[in-house]
Amino acid sequence: MSVNLKEGLQGVSATDMHITAIKQINSLVNGETDMIANMANVAAYLYHTFHYFWVGFYIRKNNQLVLGPFQGPVACTRIDLNKGVCGHAATTQKSVIVPDVHQFPGHIACSSESQSEIVIPFVKENSTIFVLDVDSKKLDYFNEKDQQFLEEVVQLLV
Ligand code: SME
Repeated sequence: MSVNLKEGLQGVSATDMHITAIKQINSLVNGETDMIANMANVAAYLYHTFHYFWVGFYIRKNNQLVLGPFQGPVACTRIDLNKGVCGHAATTQKSVIVPDVHQFPGHIACSSESQSEIVIPFVKENSTIFVLDVDSKKLDYFNEKDQQFLEEVVQLLV
């Protein structure tokens, strides 16, 4: 049987999948206060549940974003705050959906296979603490529902 993972099994909408995922991620991180441990499990959960091409975290350290827990192919270890989609999300402190990475000025291609991307910043007291970066091998893969879902996910992490 061929399954459209975005639409889910048997007509289950992405939103229903997201609601289930939020509950499961909540259980996963509940009671654990270590951010890195929670990021590691959340990256694994998202990667294996939604079959994203790459999912992971970049943690802000001074003027750079440094690679944190992730799942998928090896990735760039450091991103300057004025570079890439991740730097853009970190400095504007707003989520960014990039339907076609080749059209985003300054996009950093850690893998030539990535075609679209979404980056969600986590901001505390006006300071960006980390970003969640998700890549797809398909163009225009992420929509506002994905953004809303992933914004809820980062709030569960800290
Ligand atoms: N594409 C990102 C870099 C990180 S990788 O996608 C894992 C960017 O432009 O910031």
